[in-house]
Amino acid sequence: MSDTRTALVTGASRGIGAAIALGLAKRGYDVALNDIERQKDDLDAVAAQIREMGQRAEVLFADVSDKAQVEAMVQQALEAFGQIDAVVNNAGILIAGTVDGLPETTWDAVMDVNAKGSFMVIQALLPAMKARGYGRIVNIASIGGKHGAPEQAHYSASKAAVMGFSRVLAQEVGPLGITVNCVCPGIIMTDMGRVNLEDPQVSNAWKAKTAMARIGDPEDVVGPVAFFASDDSAFVTGQTLNVDGGIVFS
Ligand SMILES: NC(=O)c1ccc[n+]([C@@H]2O[C@H](COP(=O)([O-])OP(=O)(O)OC[C@H]3O[C@@H](n4cnc5c(N)ncnc54)[C@H](O)[C@@H]3O)[C@@H](O)[C@H]2O)c1
Repeated sequence: MSDTRTALVTGASRGIGAAIALGLAKRGYDVALNDIERQKDDLDAVAAQIREMGQRAEVLFADVSDKAQVEAMVQQALEAFGQIDAVVNNAGILIAGTVDGLPETTWDAVMDVNAKGSFMVIQALLPAMKARGYGRIVNIASIGGKHGAPEQAHYSASKAAVMGFSRVLAQEVGPLGITVNCVCPGIIMTDMGRVNLEDPQVSNAWKAKTAMARIGDPEDVVGPVAFFASDDSAFVTGQTLNVDGGIVFS
């Protein structure tokens, strides 16, 4: 392994993904930044901040729910950096809706990005990690996958899928030196989080339900992700860590 560590972060143009990419760069990683092309300006801005820190940043557009785009993106990341030490599957979408009226297309869209997207990125990267006998896979699930809230049944299902997938993958790739862990953010102030937080009554109710009595910031998620991406967690795999200020206690 070379001294500089490398990471691929999906959905890195804003919110939690941007914070993770910047936080890993601060910890000495070169970072391959993925998002959809529509997010070009924001993604370029994150890349510029990483380069200002003296780390390398590669901007890679791909829709993580499109297999051909994912394969090309992973290939570009490997060609740019030679190897990827850690991948953070963070790209995700939330489209609210109750089960009774939920269009099949909404179910599919949320599953395709949140669950299948993580699977396809990992599948594309596994041969390189297996060949090296080393890898750190960090999947961003959600306390919504354990606890959930009305209008998010499909989102909850997608995040529960990520956790189940990760537990089995950890068993498959553990003997090869690859760890797989999940981070479950709670209520975090981002573009997605605002769905829960626009109404002050809802926002205050979440604060009241949270032991730390506040809404989370994207930066709150960085340390736990960095732990799973590093060798500090070398003997930790198949685990799920709530990063929610104390909402879910299991
Ligand atoms: N904000 C919260 O309260 C919260 C709570 C729990 C879990 N999460 C999870 O954290 C992750 C980040 O969420 P966020 O709050 O920063 O949301 P966000 O909407 O601010 O950011 C999501 C990012 O993913 C990108 N993205 C969406 N679809 C994509 C696709 N098909 N391919 C590539 N990139 C895509 C978006 O462009 C965006 O940059 C998600 O997986 C989300 O489910 C968020």
